[in-house]
Amino acid sequence: MRDLTGQVVAITGASAGIGAASARALVDRGAKVALGARRLGRLEGMVAEMEGSAIAVEMDVRDPDGSRRLVGTAIDEFGRLDAIVANAGIGAYGGIMDLTDEKLAEMMDINVAGTVWPVRAAVPHFLEQGEGDIVIVSSVAGIRGEGFEAVYAATKFAQVGLAGGLDRELRAKNIRVSTICPGGTATEFAMGAGRTPDMPGLADMMRPENVAEAIVTVLSQPKSMRTLIWSMRHIEEQD
Ligand SMILES: NC(=O)c1ccc[n+]([C@@H]2O[C@H](COP(=O)([O-])OP(=O)(O)OC[C@H]3O[C@@H](n4cnc5c(N)ncnc54)[C@H](OP(=O)(O)O)[C@@H]3O)[C@@H](O)[C@H]2O)c1
Repeated sequence: MRDLTGQVVAITGASAGIGAASARALVDRGAKVALGARRLGRLEGMVAEMEGSAIAVEMDVRDPDGSRRLVGTAIDEFGRLDAIVANAGIGAYGGIMDLTDEKLAEMMDINVAGTVWPVRAAVPHFLEQGEGDIVIVSSVAGIRGEGFEAVYAATKFAQVGLAGGLDRELRAKNIRVSTICPGGTATEFAMGAGRTPDMPGLADMMRPENVAEAIVTVLSQPKSMRTLIWSMRHIEEQD
């Protein structure tokens, strides 16, 4: 496995859940992290906790400039960028006619455009330095359609399609593209939009730290190895 000491990783959606756990796991391995999300207060709390290994950038993944600021600040502060983790996303459950136009548009924008913009911000730097890693956090719902989350699943399929295309386009330039497809993970995700804090199913979900370990593992692979799609689920979670 590759040593991640001194590697610089930018993460969108780093203020909570899988993104926050990934940032902590990467810093534990000696990496530096650039944390992006809208809730700056949370990011600043993490920066204080990480003692010089992290910086915070308030950004919205729907805005291409936000992603360029995240990448630019990482390079300014740490001198390089080795990987981008496009993790930010939202979920809302309901039948195709149950959610509002506005909620569906928001989900499509954050989950799809909000994956494209961070990738486009990072790729020029990866091409210039001759290598880089793109990690996209999709979902099991991005491999198979799920009832009552059809539009969410569509956004997650879009990420898998994006990653497959990018792999074919960028592999020859030493840019690896990996997709992580977690099953249910106990985070703030979809709280109030199909999940509740006391729902029994939460106990049978993975912890964000489980997904974070997959991201660390993907980045720790020798450069001669690439992970295409890593799908993972809790042992108790039903198909
Ligand atoms: N939890 C699950 O069961 C599960 C399963 C499969 C896949 N996933 C995927 O895993 C990823 C992370 O989800 P999670 O479970 O960690 O959820 P979470 O705990 O709700 O965290 C979501 C993160 O995304 C950020 N975010 C949301 N909208 C944003 C925007 N417009 N701009 C910037 N950041 C934004 C949030 O930060 P701010 O609100 O501070 O901006 C937060 O940091 C998502 O892509 C999700 O689809 C989750």
